[in-house]
Amino acid sequence: MLTGDRPTGNLHIGHYFGSLVNRVRLQDAGVETLVLIADYQVITDRDGTGPVQERALSLVADYLAVGIDPEKTVIFNHSMVPALNQLLLPFLSLVTDSELRRNPTVKAELEASGDRALSGLLLTYPVHQAADILFCKANLVPVGKDQLPHLEQTRVVARRFDERYGRVNPERPVFPQAEALLSKASSVLGMDGHKMSKSRGNTIDIGMDADTTAKRIKKAVTDLDRHITYDPANRPEVSNLVLLAALTTGQAPEAIAAEIGDGGAGTLKKLVTESVNEYFAPIRARRSELAADPGYLLNVLRDGNKTANEIADATLDEVRLAMGMTF
Ligand code: TRP
Repeated sequence: MLTGDRPTGNLHIGHYFGSLVNRVRLQDAGVETLVLIADYQVITDRDGTGPVQERALSLVADYLAVGIDPEKTVIFNHSMVPALNQLLLPFLSLVTDSELRRNPTVKAELEASGDRALSGLLLTYPVHQAADILFCKANLVPVGKDQLPHLEQTRVVARRFDERYGRVNPERPVFPQAEALLSKASSVLGMDGHKMSKSRGNTIDIGMDADTTAKRIKKAVTDLDRHITYDPANRPEVSNLVLLAALTTGQAPEAIAAEIGDGGAGTLKKLVTESVNEYFAPIRARRSELAADPGYLLNVLRDGNKTANEIADATLDEVRLAMGMTF
């Protein structure tokens, strides 16, 4: 299993319930797990790398705080694994420019980046992401819905590699067909009822303090009906708060809504604030300890990079062999 995050900001509870809990669950079930800090993806839609080292280490702190265990999971980053990046070259030969231009996620990112021109990297990064997934031959990728086009592109790359360049072992293709693992709760919304995202200022970060969390929830958008129900289609904002209470207390959303009944948005927000802060308190405590020791975080990443390089070198050797490029 492989998944990844861009080091562009802190992870929030949308990431947590959408993807991180799955990663930890699978890791603990014994699935061979890799987590990528996708530093080359930082420059797909912006001009500079920003404080990328600090952000990468902050991701490592988030990962370890939520239960990703570096003894079991390989945590690594793009820029330190040359053989992974080299896979991009043969993979680019397997896709067409119209295919890439049609990618809905690339289109959305281009639109969101204002009047920027489409860079070669933004256009081709789904192929680079295919290299992320295929260098370790991942067959399971826990992601949000927005990443499905990239998973489809990855399967196309794997299939065409097999058709065009063939196999080393006649019994099986060099690359597997990777499946997405979509989480049920991947649709946790931000406090304004829109997608939770840093740029909207509507997030609750994993590492946020309890007071800031309370303030954000207090400002959350609700509606005029005092009677609280769980009805995501018609009452997205209120239902999102109910969902957060449900996820952090382990109760069903319907039970939470029924419990509050005519108590109104104020009562609901109070419950959400308490349950979110209580749920994340031990994670946050662990996170501050970790963040105080950047040297340790860097070592975790260096160890992961060592393993990732071994895996990537072996795969690149196999690719060279399949392509008849052995010198
Ligand atoms: N594109 C993903 C995101 O923006 C991050 C990512 C990079 C990723 N490489 C990956 C996710 C490989 C899954 C698999 O969130």
